[in-house]
Amino acid sequence: MTQTVLVVGTGGREHALAWALSRDPEVGEVHIAPGNPGTSAVGTNHQVNILDGAAVAALAVELAADLVVVGPEAPLVAGVADAVRAQGIAVFGPSAAAAQLEGSKAFAKEIMAAAGVPTAAARVCVTADEAAAALDEFGAPYVVKDDGLAAGKGVIVTNDRAAAISHAAACGKVIIEEYLDGPEVSLFALSDGVKVLAFEPAQDFKRVGNGDTGPNTGGMGAYTPLPWAPSGLTEEVVRTVIQPTVDEMRRRGTPFVGLLYAGLALTRKGMRVVEFNARFGDPETQPLLTRLKTPLGGVLAAAATGSLGEHPPLEWGSGAAVAVVIAAAGYPESPRKGDPITGAEIEGVFHAGTALDDDDQLISAGGRVLTVVGAGDTLAQARQAAYVKVAQIKLPGGFYRTDIAAKAAEIEDNE
Ligand code: AMP
Ligand code: GLY
Repeated sequence: MTQTVLVVGTGGREHALAWALSRDPEVGEVHIAPGNPGTSAVGTNHQVNILDGAAVAALAVELAADLVVVGPEAPLVAGVADAVRAQGIAVFGPSAAAAQLEGSKAFAKEIMAAAGVPTAAARVCVTADEAAAALDEFGAPYVVKDDGLAAGKGVIVTNDRAAAISHAAACGKVIIEEYLDGPEVSLFALSDGVKVLAFEPAQDFKRVGNGDTGPNTGGMGAYTPLPWAPSGLTEEVVRTVIQPTVDEMRRRGTPFVGLLYAGLALTRKGMRVVEFNARFGDPETQPLLTRLKTPLGGVLAAAATGSLGEHPPLEWGSGAAVAVVIAAAGYPESPRKGDPITGAEIEGVFHAGTALDDDDQLISAGGRVLTVVGAGDTLAQARQAAYVKVAQIKLPGGFYRTDIAAKAAEIEDNE
C-alpha cells in the first residue's frame, strides 16, 4: 500500500496526477509541492523550491512519503529525483543522467543512434557556418531546435531561411534536422528501468492557433484515443522505440525509471521519433488520466520500485477524453497575468497557471491557465463536453483553440 504520495510540480499535469492519485483507494494522503489552487482541492500544498533537491528530499522525509512523483522536466534535469532517492524513498522520475533524454536533444539523438531507433536525420551545430550548411543540406521546411530545455518553445519549423538562421544564432547549440511530414502521436510508457508498460496513444496540438497556425506552445489541447491510428501502433512503438531506448539507458548504467514520452511522426517513410520527454506530457496527461482505470498510485509505485513486470496491463475506459487549454492573452510570447477567473469550479478543470490574490480571488498566473477535460462515449461527445465547460469559464483576454480533436471526431464518425 502506497499511503503517502508527494507530487512535485505546479501545472495542469501535476493537478491531474494529484487528482488521479487521490482517487486511488490505496493512496491515503496526497501532497503537492508547490501545487496550485486546483491541487489544494485534492491534496495538501507545500511551498518549496522544486529545483532544490535537498529541500524536496527534506519535505519527502518530513511527510514520510512512500512515493515521490516528479512532474516537470526542470527538477528532473536538476537531479531532484536523485536527491530524494538518496533518502531511501521510492521515486517515480528519472535521475539527472537519465533525464538527459529530454535535457539535451543531442544526447537523445546519440541514444537513438546507438539503440537503432528511427528518428529524423540531424546535425548538431554550434557556429553560424555549421547551421547554414545544415539548413542547406536538408532544405526547407527548416527545423531548428535549441539543444536544451525550452518549455516547448525552443523549436521552430519554417520556410524562412533567415528566420531559421536567426533562431540558430539566438540558441547557440542547436539541432538542425530533416523535416518530418505526417501526423504526430504522443506515446507514454512507464519504465522501471527494465520493463515498460505503455499508455494508449494521444495527440497534442502544439501550435497556438486553429488549423495548426502560429508559433509552437507547450500544447493547446489533446485527446485520446486516436481513431485514425494504425492498429498495432502501440506495440510497434514499444518494440522499436521504447524498449530499445530503455535497454540502451540501462546498458550505459543510467537506467530510466519514470515516464518515457515518445513524440512520434507517422511519415510516409514510416514512424519516426520527433522528440523524447522524460516525464508525463502536458496536456495529454489530463485526458489520458481521465480515461485510465488502473489505480495510478500502485502502478507508479511498481515502476519506482522495479516491479513493473509483476503489474497487470493498464486498463482503459472505453470512451474518449478531450482537453482544451485556456491560455492567457499574449500567450506564448508574453502572457498577461493577474486576470480574474470565474466559473472554473467544474469537474475536469485542471489548473495550470493560476493563483489566489490577496482577496482569495482566483487569477491567472501563467501562459496556459486551465486545461478543461470533457469525457464521453465518443470523441464528438467528449469534445462537446469539454467546450460546454470552456464556455462557462470567464477569463478576460483568455483564448483557446476551437478545433481540438475536430478532425479525429469526423474520422470516428465515418467509421
Ligand atoms: P519538439 O520539442 O522536438 O517536440 O518539437 C516541437 C514540435 O515541432 C513538434 O511537436 C513538431 O510539431 C515540430 N517538429 C519538431 N521536429 C520536427 C521535424 N523534424 N519535422 C517536422 N516538425 C517537427
Ligand atoms: N505536450 C507536449 C509536452 O508535454 O511537451
